[in-house]
Amino acid sequence: MTKALGPDHGAAGHDASARILDAITDKRADRPLAAETIDGIVRDIVSGRLPDYQVAAFLATVACQGMTAAETAALTAAYVAGGSRLRLSELDGFVIDKHSTGGVGDKVSLVVVPVVAACGVVVAKMSGRGLGYAGGTVDKLESIPGLRMDLNADELRRILSEAGMAITGQSADLAPGDGATYRMRDVTATVESVPLIAASIISKKVALGADGLVLDVKSGEGALMADQAEAERLAETMLDLARAFGLPCRVVLSDMSQPLGYAVGNALEVREALAALRGQHVPGLSEVCQVIARLMLQLAEPGLPEAAADGRIAAVLGDGSAHRIFLRWAAAQGGDARVLADESLLPHARYRQTVAADRDGFVSAIDPRAIGAAAIRLGAGRLVQGEQLDHAAGIVLCCRVGSRVQRGEPVAVVHYGARDPEPALALTHSAFTIGDTPGPERPAVHRILGLESAPRVGSDR
Ligand code: URA
Repeated sequence: MTKALGPDHGAAGHDASARILDAITDKRADRPLAAETIDGIVRDIVSGRLPDYQVAAFLATVACQGMTAAETAALTAAYVAGGSRLRLSELDGFVIDKHSTGGVGDKVSLVVVPVVAACGVVVAKMSGRGLGYAGGTVDKLESIPGLRMDLNADELRRILSEAGMAITGQSADLAPGDGATYRMRDVTATVESVPLIAASIISKKVALGADGLVLDVKSGEGALMADQAEAERLAETMLDLARAFGLPCRVVLSDMSQPLGYAVGNALEVREALAALRGQHVPGLSEVCQVIARLMLQLAEPGLPEAAADGRIAAVLGDGSAHRIFLRWAAAQGGDARVLADESLLPHARYRQTVAADRDGFVSAIDPRAIGAAAIRLGAGRLVQGEQLDHAAGIVLCCRVGSRVQRGEPVAVVHYGARDPEPALALTHSAFTIGDTPGPERPAVHRILGLESAPRVGSDR
């Protein structure tokens, strides 16, 4: 963690400050930074030699000016340097990893990780906490009492061999440069930057060292990249980085113009994911999960036809094995056996209020940012760092874009506990646009990238 250092933080601190100030000046003048400069700055940040305001100024300059491909690769390498590398690729069999840029109601990992594991491919996943209005997998899973999200490397390996899957939070010694800058980005409006996001995600994946990676890059109002062209630029940048680090990768560009599925909020999303794992079709969510799970299987087994991959996915959803593997994994990671046996014991909100349609018509938009902001106001996400969450709080939509509704009919149910629900009720109400026509239908998946590059399984990393 960086500190607000005083004026006399020693010679090393003075060198560090001189280096970052020169770099800020160069970046502002569009002069690219050398790899050694970037590496030195990241080391200074990780070791706490720089005051927060200089780190914030550096991140803001990068976010405004962007980075060249070479600078972005140097930043990624610098984030990994100084930390451990797990090299899961050294385990028996193919180990696959998956990461999303995040969105509102994004519970895809909770579904695809057990689905792919049930199909026989080991899945290792390092997840984050909520980021702004987008929830985080770690927060969602912590609504299962006892479930540990802080595995060390040995525990991760053991759970992978016992359960065939593992999901954990980021440990301090993996991609330490990402950890140190991520906290700062979250509170300095420097999250939405292609080079900063790409280096953050790919550095974690390189440090984890799986054999393959599928990325879910979301675009639309509820995503880090609202604009599809920017989302494609981010996807291409991550694909190039993964290639440069010898990590076989595919990218799915998926839609985040409305919340994913119906549930937004930690325990509510776990329930919806468990329903999907029991084979229930959840509009929007099921389509994205299908494509991502298929790509993960095809990356693990090059040449596997699409229909065969889809057949396996349907089988593990239909015969209950994907659901069982989730329960087995959660128990192995400390999840409370009573709750896992009876999901009605997951946290429940004390109160509920419905939000009703104010006219007859078709739902033409559901603004995911407003829904995400409403969930945060209820305590499902954080407004300040380290805030305690209300895992039961959130919003359940009663309809999707395109649904026909009548005046007075519920369009959403707000679940809450101790917090005043009024701001969330107003935000939820404002999220819905009801018009005379359903509006254009947007596909759940826009594009898949990276199919042209043959997987380099067993490459020398
Ligand atoms: N997810 C990450 O891990 N990093 C980012 O910068 C954004 C999303």
